[in-house]
Amino acid sequence: MGAGVATTTSPVSAAPAVRMQAGAPSDRVRIAIMGVNSRGAQLAQAFLNSPGCAITTICDVDARAGAKTAQAIAKAGGAAPQVIADVRKVLTLPEVDALVISAPDHWHAPAAMLALQAAKHVYVEKPCSHNPREGELLVQVAARSGRVVQMGNQRRSWPNVQRAIAMVHEGHIGTVYAARTWYANSRATIGKGKTVPVPEWLDFDLWQGPAPRRPYLDNLVHYEWHWRQHWGTGEAANNGTHMFDLARWGLRVEHPTRVTSSGGRYQFDDDWEFPDTQVITLEYPGKKLITWESMSANGFQPHGRGVGVTFHGDQGSLLIDGDGYTVYDLKGKMIDEVKPDAGSAVSQVGPAVRLDALHTTNFLEVIRGKGTLTSPIDGGHTSTLMAHLGNIAWKTGHVLTCDPATGRVQNDADATALWSRTYEPGWEPSA
Ligand SMILES: NC(=O)c1ccc[n+]([C@@H]2O[C@H](COP(=O)([O-])OP(=O)(O)OC[C@H]3O[C@@H](n4cnc5c(N)ncnc54)[C@H](O)[C@@H]3O)[C@@H](O)[C@H]2O)c1
Repeated sequence: MGAGVATTTSPVSAAPAVRMQAGAPSDRVRIAIMGVNSRGAQLAQAFLNSPGCAITTICDVDARAGAKTAQAIAKAGGAAPQVIADVRKVLTLPEVDALVISAPDHWHAPAAMLALQAAKHVYVEKPCSHNPREGELLVQVAARSGRVVQMGNQRRSWPNVQRAIAMVHEGHIGTVYAARTWYANSRATIGKGKTVPVPEWLDFDLWQGPAPRRPYLDNLVHYEWHWRQHWGTGEAANNGTHMFDLARWGLRVEHPTRVTSSGGRYQFDDDWEFPDTQVITLEYPGKKLITWESMSANGFQPHGRGVGVTFHGDQGSLLIDGDGYTVYDLKGKMIDEVKPDAGSAVSQVGPAVRLDALHTTNFLEVIRGKGTLTSPIDGGHTSTLMAHLGNIAWKTGHVLTCDPATGRVQNDADATALWSRTYEPGWEPSA
């Protein structure tokens, strides 16, 4: 496999401030998308609906997914992109200005660091890391890269969410002290996997990439890796990262001082290695609390919403679900409701693509030197770390005491041992 992700002497440290790759025509940003079975195919649509962008390259280790998405891009009116399996080859191409990473979680930070070493801009899906140390390293490498690094917590770019958070900040519900977040779904069991031959359409060695090698299982690819600790990060980092990020933004907090978590795999006896039923609490300096409650295997929806956040202040409350929000007085009576915004510069497309395109457009604009990033990677890391801390509290069964300046766990050897992971030799990241 060769190249690791060590970056100490990488060219990025000498890179100038944001600029296009040499030879890029005017302000057109040329992107490659890594991992297109599901989320990457959606992001392709979002980028196709973002002005001034060309998808030159599709990267996937599943030959079927790569070909299908390349065809979909051509059908949507874009030029057919080339399809390449190995991201390291993609990163050598001059016709790629930015890498979009929507491969599984164990690839996020390592691929992002490889891309920054190759002087590419990076859009990395949430969670931006598989473990806390990777996130810390990515923030360091990004800071000296001179490149734009955006996390895929797209709600940061949604107008009504921005307005709702501004209302929270402006005191519309008084002094805000708590945020409750949740997710409910009726995910089915994934059963117990059997070791089977790797399908001919998959390069499983590259799929595993930075993760130490394990045999191929028949209930892993695609998607179900989310629930295995070797590759995934569980529901807390999957859907939770979005909601933790909103809660942290609204409460204007950085790192917690105390983290707890309870729960388990209660609904099924199968290969899930994370809880399907979990509560995480994070306490912050200045008497502020954030909670996460996930019911991954029971679709009963709190407030009639499958995913959401409520902010609680001394004058009332505010609920954000999709691109809309509702305000309540202190007794819980609704006093204002804003429905998702139907209008937009890209309103010819469906709402999901339209909302994603607001975020991808922000990424592209900042690459061109216009505006500010709605979700820079340091904040993306801080929000992702909330989920990792919750999962570490759950795995250890410990109450974690954290340094509010860094989020690092204090005086807990078991928790500290989970700060990083082992890597496939040659793939160890470093800053
Ligand atoms: N922001 C959002 O709202 C949102 C929504 C869905 C998923 N996501 C994130 O997107 C990521 C992908 O999720 P998914 O549901 O599409 O997963 P998936 O398993 O369906 O697809 C992952 C794809 O990555 C490919 N892949 C794996 N290793 C690769 C490699 N080395 N090079 C190139 N391609 C590789 C796989 O073949 C597959 O096509 C996850 O991290 C998830 O958290 C974000």
